[in-house]
Amino acid sequence: MKKILAFETSCDDTAVAIIDERGDVLAECIASQIKEHAPYLGVVPEIGSRAHIEQIVHVTNAVFLESKLSPRDVSAVAATCAPGLLGPLLVGAQFAKGFSLGHGVPFIAIHHIEGHIFSGFSDEGFPAPPFVALIASGGHTALYRCNEDFSTSLLGQTLDDAAGEAFDKIGRALGFGYPAGKIIDKLARLGEPSRFSFPVALKHHDGCDFSFSGLKTRVLETIKQHAPLDKTTLQDLCASAQEAIALALSDRCMKAVRAANVQAVVVGGGVAANSRVRDLLTERCLAQGLTLYLPKIRHCTDNAVMIARAALIKMRLGLVSDLQVDVRANLSIERANELTIAQMSSSSNSELDFT
Ligand code: KG4
Ligand code: ZN
Repeated sequence: MKKILAFETSCDDTAVAIIDERGDVLAECIASQIKEHAPYLGVVPEIGSRAHIEQIVHVTNAVFLESKLSPRDVSAVAATCAPGLLGPLLVGAQFAKGFSLGHGVPFIAIHHIEGHIFSGFSDEGFPAPPFVALIASGGHTALYRCNEDFSTSLLGQTLDDAAGEAFDKIGRALGFGYPAGKIIDKLARLGEPSRFSFPVALKHHDGCDFSFSGLKTRVLETIKQHAPLDKTTLQDLCASAQEAIALALSDRCMKAVRAANVQAVVVGGGVAANSRVRDLLTERCLAQGLTLYLPKIRHCTDNAVMIARAALIKMRLGLVSDLQVDVRANLSIERANELTIAQMSSSSNSELDFT
């Protein structure tokens, strides 16, 4: 059975995975850089690049060990090539290109957001397109229509902060480390979400855009007003802020479903791991008779399985990448097709045939 080796190094995780041609995960491993970046309360690109260089061989060896496979068993290699931090992207992409050249297997350059959208592809319950994808992470918050041919169109996006960024900035003001979403999620479960009323921006506007900076400012003001926060106030504040973010995400997602005329929703990105976001979306999709796909928690945040599965879709569509393809810090999802080319007619080359 054919195997895809994939790398994700666009930010602060060195992630490697191997899947088979059905999309099943044979091995996955992530080396997190949270400790290296923690003193700076955010990701430092130079530190990230160095850590990726130090880790990538170890993490790759770990997935070969876990899967009991050898590099000779790999039929294609993929890496995130856009968008992200240039140095970190370069490390994963160059390593994957070197592997491609060294082992004579095709290389597939993947758009990070396509990875998030298709992280559950081939898992039970993952819908066939068309569907709406809500991707909410530390760097992105947007709604897309995934079309029948697996192309993607943007329906709406944040006009300022990403949802994960709002969680992280609120967390920073509360003295938590980076990233803070998971800690706020935990505290919020013990709090009262109706104690503070925070704004859900753009609720009555046309379109599917988001805005989180007003909410963030109001939460930061409330923190100052109540300082020093007692335990109950801290829990209530986390629950109320989380509720406003979850309401904004689910409101806009339901609007996007109507605009895109689809019956299914897929979520992804670190904020898709949030318990209230998951519950509210489950409630609303059930009420509307929509199919909802929620990825496993470990496949919400950055990982390499999502890159491998996006690559599997490309292979099935007969797409590969030129080794000359450059990494890019910014590239809209609508231009993700610039990363791949139609493979040459290759009926004689069974390695390339994933259909
Ligand atoms: O997708 P991801 O790993 O990286 C980016 O591409 O940005 O997302 C990381 C973001 C961080 O902002 C983190 O605070 C947030 O996802 N996050 C959460 C939760 N787990 C991670 N936010 C809310 N609740 C969570 N449980
Ligand atoms: Zn991401």
